[in-house]
Amino acid sequence: CGIVGYIGQQGSKEILLHGLEKLEYRGYDSAGIALLNENGVHVFKEKGRIADLRAIVDENVDAPVGIGHTRWATHGVPNRLNAHPHQSASGRFTLVHNGVIENYAILKREYLADVPFKSDTDTEVIVQLVEKFVNDGLTVEEAFRKTLTLLKGSYAIVLIDAENDGVLYAAKNKSPLLAGLGEGFNVVASDAMAMLQVTNQYVELMDKEMLIVTREAVTIKKLNGEIVERAPYTAELDASDIEKGTYPHYMLKEIDEQPLVIRRLIQKYQDENGELTIDNEIVQAMNEADRIYIIACGTSYHAGLVGKQFIEKWANIPVEVHIASEFSYNMPLLSEKPLFIYISQSGETADSRAVLVRTKELGYKALTITNVPGSTLSREADYTLLLHAGPEIAVASTKAYTAQLAVLAILAVVTAKAKGLDVTIDLVKELGIVANAMETLCDAKGEMEAIVREYLATTRNCFFIGRAVDFYVCLEGALKLKEISYIQAEGFAGGELKHGTIALIENGTPVIALATQEHVNLSIRGNVKEVVARGANPCIISMKGLETEEDRYVIPAVHPMLTPLVSVVPLQLIAYYAALHRGCDVDKPRNLAKSVTVE
Ligand code: G6P
Repeated sequence: CGIVGYIGQQGSKEILLHGLEKLEYRGYDSAGIALLNENGVHVFKEKGRIADLRAIVDENVDAPVGIGHTRWATHGVPNRLNAHPHQSASGRFTLVHNGVIENYAILKREYLADVPFKSDTDTEVIVQLVEKFVNDGLTVEEAFRKTLTLLKGSYAIVLIDAENDGVLYAAKNKSPLLAGLGEGFNVVASDAMAMLQVTNQYVELMDKEMLIVTREAVTIKKLNGEIVERAPYTAELDASDIEKGTYPHYMLKEIDEQPLVIRRLIQKYQDENGELTIDNEIVQAMNEADRIYIIACGTSYHAGLVGKQFIEKWANIPVEVHIASEFSYNMPLLSEKPLFIYISQSGETADSRAVLVRTKELGYKALTITNVPGSTLSREADYTLLLHAGPEIAVASTKAYTAQLAVLAILAVVTAKAKGLDVTIDLVKELGIVANAMETLCDAKGEMEAIVREYLATTRNCFFIGRAVDFYVCLEGALKLKEISYIQAEGFAGGELKHGTIALIENGTPVIALATQEHVNLSIRGNVKEVVARGANPCIISMKGLETEEDRYVIPAVHPMLTPLVSVVPLQLIAYYAALHRGCDVDKPRNLAKSVTVE
């Protein structure tokens, strides 16, 4: 979910709505704003997108103070009632919240047994508690602080008081929240991107801290009331990076940006002699580790699977790759000197962060690979490597995935060289070839659209098969397709087909097979024959040098270890056109959020 808050001299409504639009990547099940002016608090909320909210906001109402929220539903279905902001029983207090309050039912029973509730959300408990403690005689700040000490779980909160239009109260634990500084106004937001329109000066808030925001000042306090001094920083984001320009969708723009991102990465990770380089401390941490644990979710997890190959084959360090949400309670036996690598486009994913908190407690070093400098996972890890991909807005990740692969390859090669291993690959040259190949594929959009028309026009499912590293790209291709076109899609290892999956093949079932690896070229083609014998409609995507005349598309030749950076591009485009042809909302698929800040 995403949060904004504004306190200034004039109208905040447009600033809040615009900010929420920039935060829609965090969820768009429902949205709402509360405006506080001399006539009191005006709350507007609606199911759906910010555009739906805009349609119902009273155009005659505006206010110098306001808060807003865009929701990805956890507790309570996504309807207007459960949308934020939520209000206390008397209507005096209004609040927006991200996160999950784990003990809300206990708090409700213990403190609020006679208070009538309006929604099913855990959030309403917070605002009712504040009102209860104020009714008991505490000041608003004391009541807010007391409430915060009772909460278990994750939260970013902004609260307004109808009886005082001079202050916003905010707090955070595990969910991101920043204060933005202006002249005669101040703001709060869960991401600097939301408020770039009015300021680029931000102050971070740490877990279990609260904020008191007036027009003139932002004060950070600990929950015991002690004031915390913290210097602001400048957000290095360019507002134009987050526009889609002439593209119909962010996803298409981001797919097309991939060659540029790879070229940029080569530059960013090169020293003055043209040698690839990575911060010495990181390389040392890699080489001191007896085993590397990669932790990630979704697309970043798929990048981790490929990254394992790079690190094991080039740097000769054993690697395990784990899904973050499983790792916490299913922790494997750890080696003696582990290094944890967190891969996260956003740097905010709560599942990954929960593991980071845990491994830090255990005293292990962590490296975050992320696209967002200053993100939670970057701040909290010992080291960070940046993806330099520019903001990724479409929910389906594309350029961040290929950037993750490139950074992992660079990390592996630099580590191997520091160790004195004999790595023969000239990675600068090979990544250059990759960027050119990506460009060729981006220019072949018509071909991918034709494949979609031919194979995916009416199908309800689609399978991706591959062996060796192609298998990992199949997982990613299937994820892309299901995320945005809602076609049921799965990626399988070619050799596993006969052990179960082949039962799903029916007459006409599309099977997309990747064939970029010479050592398994014959066997994957054997798998294609097996599914064809059962009626499947095969679409073989192979690599130059390995092609046969049955292939539907041939990608340009690149180094065999680096094929995932290239073979994923047609799969991204296939997903894009499949979604487009089905009339789906490409950039904002149903039920998903770009950045999931709840566990
Ligand atoms: C969400 C997104 C996925 C993404 C995953 C991990 O589920 O919808 O596209 O891969 O989070 O995000 P991260 O920012 O940690 O890479």
